[in-house]
Amino acid sequence: MRSLYTNGITLIFSIFRNRFMTEHTRVPLIAANWKMHHTSIDAEAFLQAMQAAQLPDDRDVVICPSYTSLHIFNAADTAFSLGAQNMHAEVEGAFTGEVSATMLVDAGCSYVILGHSERRAQFNETDEQVNAKVVTALHNDLTPIICIGETQEQRAAGNTLEIVKVQVEAALHDLTQDAIDDVVIAYEPLWAIGTGETATAEQAQEVHASIRSIVGEKTRVLYGGSVKPDNIAELMQQPDIDGALVGGASLEAESFLQIVQY
Ligand code: PGA
Repeated sequence: MRSLYTNGITLIFSIFRNRFMTEHTRVPLIAANWKMHHTSIDAEAFLQAMQAAQLPDDRDVVICPSYTSLHIFNAADTAFSLGAQNMHAEVEGAFTGEVSATMLVDAGCSYVILGHSERRAQFNETDEQVNAKVVTALHNDLTPIICIGETQEQRAAGNTLEIVKVQVEAALHDLTQDAIDDVVIAYEPLWAIGTGETATAEQAQEVHASIRSIVGEKTRVLYGGSVKPDNIAELMQQPDIDGALVGGASLEAESFLQIVQY
């Protein structure tokens, strides 16, 4: 009796401890995706506003400007990290107009957004290409922020979880669990990107929980799609939402800072 009781207490304690540990070891991450906006003058002003602000030290912040503004941030002493919005899967070669992982590292990047839906839709990026880029990024010490998400039609047809599963598994194809622990997934429902229409916290949590069941407890899973100062707090309360990938609301330092300081 006594040892059963003791074992029971030990088991309950370890379940609580694991739950506490896993929920608290994923450092929140807020990333800005500027897309094709802003020149270096705008980047300079944004940088100054960021430097004047107090960034909370319990979360990671990443700015992904255009390639041509990376140097503005790289030259400065900042409390946030730098990322790019895309890269080629090869590290060098005859690929006119492309940028490689080693070039991004050279320009001060530690993150790179890969497989954004705009790249998939407008530049025909495939799941296989995204996977190849993820592998190259990891080999070069860049943390990939891998974007996935369903269209309005796919959601209406009830296929969201299946679509997302296929995209996640394809992007992570052949990666070890250690490597998967290091990537960042950004769930961005296409119907919510740039539309002002955000997934509800419950809709997002449902998809995040299903992504979590594929990637495990250590991988950070961000939500993206019309994240704004007034919806970030509710999103961040969800147990499987570890941060946000912010487009439109990241273009002005004021609104981005409000999201960072949720
Ligand atoms: P949005 O963009 O915040 O403007 O919806 C997000 C994204 O595309 O990464």
